[in-house]
Amino acid sequence: MTPEEWAAFLEVHNDLPREGPGAPQDVQWAVQQLGLSGVLDVFDAGCGPGADTVTLAETLPEARIRAVDTTDTFVAQAQARVARFGDRVRVELASMADADGPYDLIWCAGALYFLGVTEGLTLWRDALKPGGHVVFSEPVALGPLSAEAAAFWEEYPQITDLAGIEARVNAAGYRVLGHRMIVGAPWQTYYDPMVARMDHLRATAMDPMVLAAVEENQTEVDRWRAARDEIAYALLIVAPE
Ligand SMILES: C[S@@+](CC[C@H](N)C(=O)[O-])C[C@H]1O[C@@H](n2cnc3c(N)ncnc32)[C@H](O)[C@@H]1O
Repeated sequence: MTPEEWAAFLEVHNDLPREGPGAPQDVQWAVQQLGLSGVLDVFDAGCGPGADTVTLAETLPEARIRAVDTTDTFVAQAQARVARFGDRVRVELASMADADGPYDLIWCAGALYFLGVTEGLTLWRDALKPGGHVVFSEPVALGPLSAEAAAFWEEYPQITDLAGIEARVNAAGYRVLGHRMIVGAPWQTYYDPMVARMDHLRATAMDPMVLAAVEENQTEVDRWRAARDEIAYALLIVAPE
């Protein structure tokens, strides 16, 4: 993307509650599965506008949380959302590749593919405390992709089924402890505010780059609608072997 295309993309994505599919129940599921409570160190990698950072802070009221993202507008939005938690929740403009730690939990919703599953988990091994876990979501093929689903994932040809993700996890020397699928309603929750934003921009925006970005994002939404029961992220709980 050119800087101008990126600016137009951000205009469409301005002030959306989240930047990918997911729900508070996903965070709560992982916390419950892992039996997490009390004073913990948590890293939210690629936090976007901070929806899960807020849920992590609410679900783990004694946790110290560091959230990072490389997009400054998302960082600013997340910082505003977590201000009510005070010093225990920090949001910084930084790369998730530079996780410091050590952490009890590294949470990464819809962002690990920027590093690569194997590459990212390998990087994070030293950022985990003994007994620590990574929970991440990753595009998954629920079966052979229909033409509509293949069109949706055309920019992510690396997509595999769950076994393929597990193989990438294992290649980093981790094992999968549990998973659940993110399909249907959490995608609707992600796209509904985007559709409203695009309707607003169609009525008000003059910049042709912004209008082109609207149509590009509309294509994504239309492709999701055409195959919504097939389009999924897997949310996986993993730990070093
Ligand atoms: C699909 S969005 C998901 C955001 C958020 N986790 C959510 O669910 O709303 C992916 C995010 O990863 C961020 N990102 C990409 N590469 C990154 C990196 N190296 N370090 C930190 N964040 C990164 C992007 O800026 C974007 O906000």
